[in-house]
Amino acid sequence: MGKIILTGDRPTGKLHLGHYVGSLRRRVELQDSGQFERIFIMIADAQALTDNADDPEKVRRNVLEVALDYLACGLDPSKSTLFIQSQVPQLCELAFYYMNLVTVQRLQRNPTVKAEIQLRGFSESAAEGDTQQRQGIPVGFFTYPISQAADITAFKATTVPAGEDQEPMIEQTREIVHKFNTLYGPTLVAPEILLPANAACQRLPGTDGKAKMSKSLGNCIYLSDPAEEVRKKVMGMYTDPDHLRVEDPGRIEGNTVFTYLDAFCRPEHFARHLPDYPSLDELKAHYRRGGLGDVKVKKFLIAILDETLDPIRRRRAEYEQRIGEVYDMLEAGSAAARAAAAATLEEVRAAMRIDYFADRELIASQERHYRNETR
Ligand code: TRP
Repeated sequence: MGKIILTGDRPTGKLHLGHYVGSLRRRVELQDSGQFERIFIMIADAQALTDNADDPEKVRRNVLEVALDYLACGLDPSKSTLFIQSQVPQLCELAFYYMNLVTVQRLQRNPTVKAEIQLRGFSESAAEGDTQQRQGIPVGFFTYPISQAADITAFKATTVPAGEDQEPMIEQTREIVHKFNTLYGPTLVAPEILLPANAACQRLPGTDGKAKMSKSLGNCIYLSDPAEEVRKKVMGMYTDPDHLRVEDPGRIEGNTVFTYLDAFCRPEHFARHLPDYPSLDELKAHYRRGGLGDVKVKKFLIAILDETLDPIRRRRAEYEQRIGEVYDMLEAGSAAARAAAAATLEEVRAAMRIDYFADRELIASQERHYRNETR
């Protein structure tokens, strides 16, 4: 059987460079490789609502922003099915059945959910009126790994390109698949995660050097940022705080500018933008020895980001003039996704013995049973 991709993003904001190197760039490469039978890219609005129930307008607005970012990056609706999660009700049905196969204790061990509960300020002990801590953990949020297993398996996805924060979700999905197939017979496909190529791509730090680029930390460079904004953000970026004078030796480790270069720099960038150096290794070596200033390295990064983002910006600007078409594309994608998920759900219902009207033999045998009994 052919390989199938499913992946997606929560529409809670515009997509940034972390999304790009963590997953988006890879998706476009995979799409254009022609190696996959089907590719499903999902805007996970229902998952976004699990912790944004109070702000549906934000989710609604960002569905379009994420769709524009996808198209701008080169996802092509003629090759990939782009769809909106909430428009595929089969995903809810599947998640409801999977809930019987997962324990509360297992969900409580999911490290990504644990970290997110902290990050979102959900707390079981918050007092009434505490504005910092939100009271309690919404059940829908707590169980979103189950819903994510439904997203993946409804399309029989073999491959999920995603960041390492999604690893626990894929692991839980594999457990659910195993449990389901053991109980009800071989029906579902266990997916594999496809992680980014290197550590810099896996966890791109914010411009402030903090662990991860994230909207809530205000340390993002967005795909839709204009060139001037990107320049300013890079010039203000965290480097080596002890590298005060150009002559001083500098540190590469934890130096955000070099981490970004690890994620974005390709050998051909040197010929175009920094011909004095043959490679990133040589640039790093010079920085370590001393004699290489931050500004020079930052300008190189700006040139690379410009080169990367310029076609993305231009495509986005085009699609921004064709919003009606973008929604038509999402509507068609959602219909195609519904059809694919409905086919899996038929198999799931048959396996679970809840296909009452489709199973003519069941009806016939029960008819026979009662006829014999009353005779
Ligand atoms: N959890 C993902 C995110 O936060 C979004 C998502 C929902 C997803 N369902 C998925 C990703 C299925 C991969 C596969 O961005």
